[in-house]
Amino acid sequence: MKAKELRELYLGFFKDRGHKVIPSASLIPENDPTVLFTTAGMHPLVPYLLGEKHPAGNRLTDVQKCVRTGDIDDVGDERHCTFFEMLGNWSLGDYFKEEMIPWSYEFLTGANYLNIPADQIAVTVFGGDDVLPRDDEAATLWEKAGIKKENIYFMPRENNWWGPAGLTGPCGTDTEMFIIRKPKCSPTCNPDCNCGAFLEIWNDVFMRFNKQQDGSYVELTQKNVDTGMGLERALCVLNGKSSVYETDLFENAIKVISELTSKTYGENEEVTKSFRVLLDHTRTATFMLGDEKGIVPSNTDQGYILRRIIRRAVRYGRKINLPEGSLAKISEAFINEYADVYPELKTNAAKIADELQKEEAKFNKTLQQGLKEFEKCINGIERKNTFMAQKDPAYTPEKKINGKQAFHLYDTYGFPVEITDEMAKERGFEVDLDGYKAAFEEHQSKSKAGSEQKFACGLADNKEATTALHTATHLLHAALKKVYSPEVNQKGSNITEERLRFDFNLPQPMTKEEIQKVEDMVNEVIKADIPVVMKEVSLEEAKAGGFTGLFENKYSEVVKTYTIGEFSKEICGGPHVESTGKLGHFKIQKEQSCGSGIRRIKAVLE
Ligand code: ALA
Repeated sequence: MKAKELRELYLGFFKDRGHKVIPSASLIPENDPTVLFTTAGMHPLVPYLLGEKHPAGNRLTDVQKCVRTGDIDDVGDERHCTFFEMLGNWSLGDYFKEEMIPWSYEFLTGANYLNIPADQIAVTVFGGDDVLPRDDEAATLWEKAGIKKENIYFMPRENNWWGPAGLTGPCGTDTEMFIIRKPKCSPTCNPDCNCGAFLEIWNDVFMRFNKQQDGSYVELTQKNVDTGMGLERALCVLNGKSSVYETDLFENAIKVISELTSKTYGENEEVTKSFRVLLDHTRTATFMLGDEKGIVPSNTDQGYILRRIIRRAVRYGRKINLPEGSLAKISEAFINEYADVYPELKTNAAKIADELQKEEAKFNKTLQQGLKEFEKCINGIERKNTFMAQKDPAYTPEKKINGKQAFHLYDTYGFPVEITDEMAKERGFEVDLDGYKAAFEEHQSKSKAGSEQKFACGLADNKEATTALHTATHLLHAALKKVYSPEVNQKGSNITEERLRFDFNLPQPMTKEEIQKVEDMVNEVIKADIPVVMKEVSLEEAKAGGFTGLFENKYSEVVKTYTIGEFSKEICGGPHVESTGKLGHFKIQKEQSCGSGIRRIKAVLE
């Protein structure tokens, strides 16, 4: 089965069962400062899982682009990817277990769907603990549907609890589905065993709780279903492949790497690992750069992750003699592979190529020197070890690169510390990461001083703070249009509890006077304490009414509009403050370039 078929089969199945197909949201979470990237299909739907009305209704299905970088060091093995697509369907307070479990069974086993023999499917269900009873209901529903009793496993909370996506938000018990690949390795073997007998394919979460900042759980007013099927993983299992990199999604990019290096995927372990890292990282970088809220390499937040990913790809490329400047060529294979489903990649193709070229060139400039410097570090430590051992045979050799050295490699040669650490490990060394952190913080201390833990304009928590900054973002957007032209548009937005960041198109830097003018305009609206009015209208009405919106093509029917007097009119999912008086004083802290023709503003509420 090919990726395209599986996407269509899944979305079609749920469409036939009353679900609206919605497009993938951006890789950058809109209102969740607790995490840098969209990590699951449910992530962009958090407000709706918490009770807000979704414009497309209460049965949704989609394929969502996701990034998880927690296991980045494992990329190179058979199954880890930093980017993946998640197929999912949601009930927003509509159906629950009684519908979802039979549907899952039908999709997995149905002749027109995945057609997996029922006795090759195992499921796990929540086994109960001090807080919640075991989920007998789910187990009974599985058995009634046709799963053999011996293939239903009750498991503890650490296996059958999902979420939240960030630090707070919706979560609940789940039931996970596995393909049985081969006989169990022992009588006690279960789906949690990594002998390879069980391979996970799908997860149904029964979302009934909202995790709070203090770690407690509050029961939601509505019972939701959230499901997720990792596309790559599912394709791999369904096609009987041992690695996700052997699915059709990577075919063309593998060809490109082979042509560029004259090496073959699979020829030996080392080469295969380099191929996989290159494939995964280039694909992730392509999606990050091509995202509708596109990001560029930098030294903070998402930009740092992107930089680290590109540089790690460059390092692995060197191992198989990938010529300099090749990442854009590999990326092109991915753009072609995915353009049907993610048209933003085509739209941003020039930017993707340009940024990859620039970042690769930047790193290559210092890479050679940096590698020499790294060798010097290692040799220095080895010399000291030899010297000490001669003096004292009981001396334990030290195998650690200190924090200052690691920081020097970062600061002068552009080696992200994670890369230095990985290189060190390859040589049997480690990096003093705490020492690195200390060196880094010492360096940053001036700019960072006092900014920690201070929420915008003294608001109580980060939710309130981000909501206020979100409203401030609308005011900023409107002010920029008034100062320059209506053609000025949002190109990216990111909000933490401390600041907003806003990217927009403008060919030249803002002058001091213009910055002042924008600030004054925004502060005037804040002072006037104008109500923020939400109204749901049809997309047609919103367009006719002169509302601006990033999401114009997203939902075909009803959209939410937010109006702030005559000043700002935007299509947006919210949330926003009730009136602008709550915002405090708006201040632009930084205005800089961020890609050709794009400016970036960082601003705070004081
Ligand atoms: N949100 C669930 C997951 O990511 C479905 O597995």
